Amino acid sequence: MIRPILIHPDPRLKKVCDPVAQITPEIRQLAADMLETMYDAPGIGLAAPQVGVTKRIIVMDCIKEGDPEPMALVNPEIIWSSEDLSVYEEGCLSIPEQYADVKRPAEVKVRWLGLDGQPQERQFSGLWATCVQHEIDHLDGKLFIDYLGPLKRQMITRKMEKLKRERARAG
Ligand code: NI
Repeated sequence: MIRPILIHPDPRLKKVCDPVAQITPEIRQLAADMLETMYDAPGIGLAAPQVGVTKRIIVMDCIKEGDPEPMALVNPEIIWSSEDLSVYEEGCLSIPEQYADVKRPAEVKVRWLGLDGQPQERQFSGLWATCVQHEIDHLDGKLFIDYLGPLKRQMITRKMEKLKRERARAG
């Protein structure tokens, strides 16, 4: 089921999300819904708070061409970051049509629980590394615009407030 994506500013996007205590059928359904919502948008990553669920779950697929590689990460944690940084132009499904360069560690090692309840670990690089850091930030109430200067951030936030008013009117 495709779920509606919250648009910034929204208090639910600023919350520190709760860890998932147990992988239940509801959690598996949420992950499946999030992947469906992400592919439909279309996007390469989505975090649970973006669909209004303040739990520590993210989904991603950074394959642009070729076979899809859907990933669902429960309680993801960055356990190592490279000193090397890289810059990507980031966007966010909760901040439509706004993009900005963000500098982050070029590689990260992440530990998480799979939907089978088993712990997993993987080192991410390239676009995957940027995406996983962006999505984990969402679980701590942080958006990519929080890395920008205050003026740029305010400008984007005003545009989003206007977009939300327009969408509300269009009903
Ligand atoms: Ni995002």
